[in-house]
Amino acid sequence: MNDPRFLLPFEQGLIDMPSSNVLVMRPVDGFGLHIFPDQTVLEQGFKPIQKTLSQAGYTVEPRAEGKFSLSLVHLTRSKVESLGNIARAARMSDGLVLVNGAKTDGIESVLKQLKKIVTVDGVISKSHGKVFWFKACALPNWEGAAAMHKNPAGFITAAGMFSSEKIDPGSARLLPHLQGLKGKGADLGAGWGWLSKQVLDLPDVTALELIEADFDALEAARQNVIDPRASFHWLDVTNLPKPRDLFDFVVSNPPFHQTRKADPDIGKAFIKTAASMLKPSGRLLMVANRHLPYEATLEQYFKRWTTLEQDGQFKIFEATRSRK
Ligand SMILES: C[S@@+](CC[C@H](N)C(=O)[O-])C[C@H]1O[C@@H](n2cnc3c(N)ncnc32)[C@H](O)[C@@H]1O
Repeated sequence: MNDPRFLLPFEQGLIDMPSSNVLVMRPVDGFGLHIFPDQTVLEQGFKPIQKTLSQAGYTVEPRAEGKFSLSLVHLTRSKVESLGNIARAARMSDGLVLVNGAKTDGIESVLKQLKKIVTVDGVISKSHGKVFWFKACALPNWEGAAAMHKNPAGFITAAGMFSSEKIDPGSARLLPHLQGLKGKGADLGAGWGWLSKQVLDLPDVTALELIEADFDALEAARQNVIDPRASFHWLDVTNLPKPRDLFDFVVSNPPFHQTRKADPDIGKAFIKTAASMLKPSGRLLMVANRHLPYEATLEQYFKRWTTLEQDGQFKIFEATRSRK
């Protein structure tokens, strides 16, 4: 939920709400958004949240553009990404920029950094976090630091994406098991595309759908996976309709949390979706952190499944013959 803290400067009469042209970056749900004027632009690139907010009638952009009278930036878990968002909000605004975040998301150090550069007009501390505000002005090149760049492994990524600076060791563990994949496949939670690129190195793969909820990661994947067999889909895997044309294989390194807490239900939903997408002869290859309990879900949705490999960190599953 959006922390109610961001409401306080308005409720306490410390800031006047403009009648239009407001930007809210990275709200995680609709909580508290009623205080903003109609036509407020919300920036949110994570499909499940974007969809919920759009369905509630809000204008939601994966990357906002325009000129605004007031901007509110909710911190994300990546400081580089958050500073980039603050600098972008400041560039697009000619009024106040508010920043709201929890201590665990680094609000203290973000505030400290800003205080060195700008006059912070107000700070309210509440529920293990802070909201503060300043008049929009030019900031250091934090946008540049947060922009897409080549990571040390040679792939285009940006801060805030899953494993942006290195190939994920879990995905890498799938590599020796990809041999023999053929026909049309999907990569569920394809991120910036490392695993998909490995799949497309196989000559018998005829098509691969990269399905990913993070808009920016998918944009990076478009640059990393340049192959006519690849197609890119900004979708929520946990909420996909059954496709008309079924797939020969699915690969996945599913997410295991959306907040800081591990949540095996997301991976379970990925398994259910994979089962619904596969031909009877189709095959799911999946890597999971060792402690995540996916076995009962594999049993529920597939007639055959096996653990191909496991160690203290990861387990690799293969599943076939989905139960329809
Ligand atoms: C463990 S990462 C794997 C990334 C990539 N396959 C790789 O090998 O680096 C899981 C990915 O799933 C994405 N994701 C999270 N929830 C999702 C959802 N509901 N639908 C689609 N993708 C999702 C995350 O953004 C992340 O990129």
